[in-house]
Amino acid sequence: MKGLILSGGTGSRLRPLTYTSAKQLIPVANKPILFYAIEALKEAGVEDIGIIVGETKEEVRAGVGDGSRWGVKITYIEQEAPLGLAHAVKIAEPFIEEDSFIMFLGDNLVREGVVHFARKFEENMPDSLILLSEVEEPQRFGVAELRDGKIIRLVEKPKIPPSNLALVGVYLFNKNIFKAVNNIKPSWRNELEITDAIQWLVDNGYTVEPHLVIGWWKDTGKPEDMLEANRLILETVETEIKGHVSEDSQIIGRAVVEEGARVINSTIRGPVVIGKGAVITNSYIGPFTSISEGVIITNSEIEFSIVLEDSRIEDIPARVDRSLIGKNVTVRKGDTRPKANSFVLGDNSIISIM
Ligand code: TTP
Repeated sequence: MKGLILSGGTGSRLRPLTYTSAKQLIPVANKPILFYAIEALKEAGVEDIGIIVGETKEEVRAGVGDGSRWGVKITYIEQEAPLGLAHAVKIAEPFIEEDSFIMFLGDNLVREGVVHFARKFEENMPDSLILLSEVEEPQRFGVAELRDGKIIRLVEKPKIPPSNLALVGVYLFNKNIFKAVNNIKPSWRNELEITDAIQWLVDNGYTVEPHLVIGWWKDTGKPEDMLEANRLILETVETEIKGHVSEDSQIIGRAVVEEGARVINSTIRGPVVIGKGAVITNSYIGPFTSISEGVIITNSEIEFSIVLEDSRIEDIPARVDRSLIGKNVTVRKGDTRPKANSFVLGDNSIISIM
């Protein structure tokens, strides 16, 4: 079985971060989201993996390399424009050839991994196995309608959802999916939709098996989803202190302090990760916060946030909360006092709070 990870797309909902970076490389608990997909495939014994890349191809290649770090072989497949998930499948045919494959959306996280689903697919040998998860806002997702446990209809972002079962961004297919993607037409948004391709399989008598995902699943398309994914992953970290924590600092709960990081006269209330070389001085880092490499936080309080490489937060009087802060951003005190702070900042921004 091969793997196909989709790491192209526009990432418009995560602007401004995606003006300068691939959304799949945004770290969750200090590890790029895309790496979780590679690890999940490797865990399921899938070692021949194609990655669909678009405009951000150079960055994805630089971040992932040839896959030897995970003991897998990576083949990059260039998509000329984000023409849809089924379009990505279509252009992957020369790579997949006659094999079955697991397709993984590069911005999705599935807690229970995919081992179980890969085994199910191999045992039952359907033409496709799709994963479903109960969600609160089905109108944001591809939604499945089931009858007697069988799929009868799939609809993309329906105004009136037929159920609360959303399609999770992991799909298993055999080679019949290529017949489907070659027979469907682009949707109103000019994309070849994966829901239409799977519907084509259903309508033409192929077997499509639904499976309910029990653990959490997160599509990190929007900033609040990214923070929630960060929270969920941080729930699983174990304490590991490799950096320096001064005697006048306090660590409460689980925290990772990576090599070369320094925590001085500060309180860390986990779960928290603090990246290499970061310096936290006279500050409070609260639960569900990921601080990347080289970040400097001084005289400030922050929680439930992600701060990317080499950013600085200095002398901020109110707590920074629910914020996604890009690389090289400076947030520093201005003249007047804000009551609250909540930011989504692009790379290289500088904010002076008045
Ligand atoms: P989406 O999140 O649906 O699309 P997007 O990345 O364009 O985001 P936005 O809606 O915010 O503009 O895509 C899911 C995943 O699939 C994501 O990792 C990007 C990838 N993808 C491709 O590789 N090729 C494509 O043609 C599309 C549409 C998405």
